[in-house]
Amino acid sequence: MLVCHCRGITDRQIRRLVRDGADSTRDIARATGAGLQCGDCRSNVKQVVDDAVEREFQKTRATTLLDLTIPVEG
Ligand code: FES
Repeated sequence: MLVCHCRGITDRQIRRLVRDGADSTRDIARATGAGLQCGDCRSNVKQVVDDAVEREFQKTRATTLLDLTIPVEG
């Protein structure tokens, strides 16, 4: 889905940047220019970033919980 029409930035591109370590609209703007032209997309960019950051957090948390799981021997 196209999020920033001025720069042609999609939600997939934003999610990829978050996976690579971006965690704010400022990071996304720096990397892509999204939100820096007309500014109409800023709330949508923020929504995609927040959602992607939350997903990454959940993945990390799930991995951490799996790492902490102690095998039960019967
Ligand atoms: S739509 Fe993103 S800066 Fe204009």
